[in-house]
Amino acid sequence: MIVKCCLKPTPSSSNYTNQWFNVTNNQVIPQSLGKTYCISAMLLDINNTRYFIIPQLTSAKIMNRPYVIIVSAATLDGRIASKTGYSRLSCPFDLKRLHEVRASVDAIMVGANTVINDDPTLTPRYVKAIKNPIRVVIDGKLRIPLTAKVVTNKEAPTIIVTTEQADRNKTAQLINMGVEVWVMSKERVNLRDVLDRLFMEKGVKKVLVEGGGRLNWELIKEGLVDEVRLTISPYVFGAGTSFIEGEGYPTTMEGPRLRLKSVNMCECGNEVLLDYVIEKG
Ligand SMILES: NC(=O)c1ccc[n+]([C@@H]2O[C@H](COP(=O)([O-])OP(=O)(O)OC[C@H]3O[C@@H](n4cnc5c(N)ncnc54)[C@H](OP(=O)(O)O)[C@@H]3O)[C@@H](O)[C@H]2O)c1
Repeated sequence: MIVKCCLKPTPSSSNYTNQWFNVTNNQVIPQSLGKTYCISAMLLDINNTRYFIIPQLTSAKIMNRPYVIIVSAATLDGRIASKTGYSRLSCPFDLKRLHEVRASVDAIMVGANTVINDDPTLTPRYVKAIKNPIRVVIDGKLRIPLTAKVVTNKEAPTIIVTTEQADRNKTAQLINMGVEVWVMSKERVNLRDVLDRLFMEKGVKKVLVEGGGRLNWELIKEGLVDEVRLTISPYVFGAGTSFIEGEGYPTTMEGPRLRLKSVNMCECGNEVLLDYVIEKG
């Protein structure tokens, strides 16, 4: 939906701007990026005719990158995989919920180890979906096998984001197999650049991150996550991969500020669904 907005830089400002925006699920995508505005009035504009004022949309966060949601299932002790890499933690209701989220986003992002260990297809299968989101694999050394489903399954486009450390022959093979390969830097992939590029080049407005723990950590650490949906499943591993797996914060002061949006019990009656929004990355 294209809407015409009257914007002002702060609530008290008397300077208004008139610009064109895309509005999706209350998320406002500006044509000029990088500033936070307060939306004081919004006029629906269809075929250059103004129709409605929407008073409830009095403020909105203007994004210059996609909205990022991490969705994961963890044991009671916060592990998303055991020490052997076993990670089947979701009940059928939780799987369906995950696929509903898959169906609602523009891209699904995972780390290389998740592809290597789980070989996911990353398509919405347990729900009706009008499109398959782009699959984005962060794989700095291009370690995922050519036989991975994200490569061989053609139901959705796949972008593999890598670095100059990647084997050039393998890069060429992947491109021949129809995969887009983005060589984005010398050593580590800058995840903010990836999100910016997805936003600008592919029109991606919402990204679902499906782990694993290391990718979750890198995104959290960079302040790039907006929401975390975690299912606590009734198991304990005692060791293995944590939901967020990285060098860690020394105290709570350095970490992100999370606000609980909702807490629900799963339909199975034995799992808890936590939904947190991140207020400060
Ligand atoms: N229960 C669940 O909901 C769930 C969901 C997903 C995954 N999992 C489990 O989680 C485990 C995998 O998690 P993980 O933490 O080991 O790995 P991961 O996050 O899937 O992948 C980490 C790897 O991705 C690459 N990577 C990540 N960020 C990068 C960056 N900025 N630049 C370059 N490369 C980057 C790195 O590869 P290099 O080391 O080669 O640089 C890194 O080692 C699996 O066992 C899987 O089953 C569970």
